Amino acid sequence: MDLMEAIKGRRSIRKYKPDPVPEEVFGTLMEAVRWSPSWANTQCWEAIVVKDPKIKSELAAALTKTNPALSSMTQAPLVIVLCGKRGVSGFKKGEATTVKGDWLMFDTGLAMQTLCLTAHSLGLGTVIIGLFDHKKVEEILGVPPNAEVVAMTPLGYPATEGIAPKRKESSEFVFFEKYPKKE
Ligand SMILES: Cc1cc2nc3c(=O)[nH]c(=O)nc-3n(C[C@H](O)[C@H](O)[C@H](O)COP(=O)(O)O)c2cc1C
Repeated sequence: MDLMEAIKGRRSIRKYKPDPVPEEVFGTLMEAVRWSPSWANTQCWEAIVVKDPKIKSELAAALTKTNPALSSMTQAPLVIVLCGKRGVSGFKKGEATTVKGDWLMFDTGLAMQTLCLTAHSLGLGTVIIGLFDHKKVEEILGVPPNAEVVAMTPLGYPATEGIAPKRKESSEFVFFEKYPKKE
């Protein structure tokens, strides 16, 4: 699939078929994630793959009842919970090197984007889920204090096509030379 086609065609998928994801397809997906860029190649991301229906239900219970992705958590054959190791991305000798502190949100975001685009190119659906009780999910999965859960996505074959929400025009967010002055 052409890169622009993948970027424009990827949608958040909230309805899934129960069909399993073949192991070799999953392997290809993780191979793509491996090659995501990261701060000084620190690769702070970690992925917990959940197939157990009981654990998937527990994870789903950490979402607010109004989260539009709620049912996808148990419909999809598996859920990927993306974590980041703390104090690695953006750090040198244990010290943060920029005012931004830990860059783990940035690097795990890049890994998630690679995952979502590659999944789409393989005919799979994803929806990034960020609105949930992170502490609860960390407890369920036994995530240690030196790592944190960032986002999750169900993974499986789409049962419906997503509708593309409108995007801003590039002229609304691209500025030249300097940040525009307020009128
Ligand atoms: C950081 C992040 C968190 C998100 N959290 C949720 C969520 O909790 N529930 C949900 O249904 N969609 C969630 N989304 C999906 C967005 O709503 C979706 O990407 C956006 O509306 C654009 O639609 P598209 O992905 O189909 O292009 C999240 C997306 C991002 C990037």
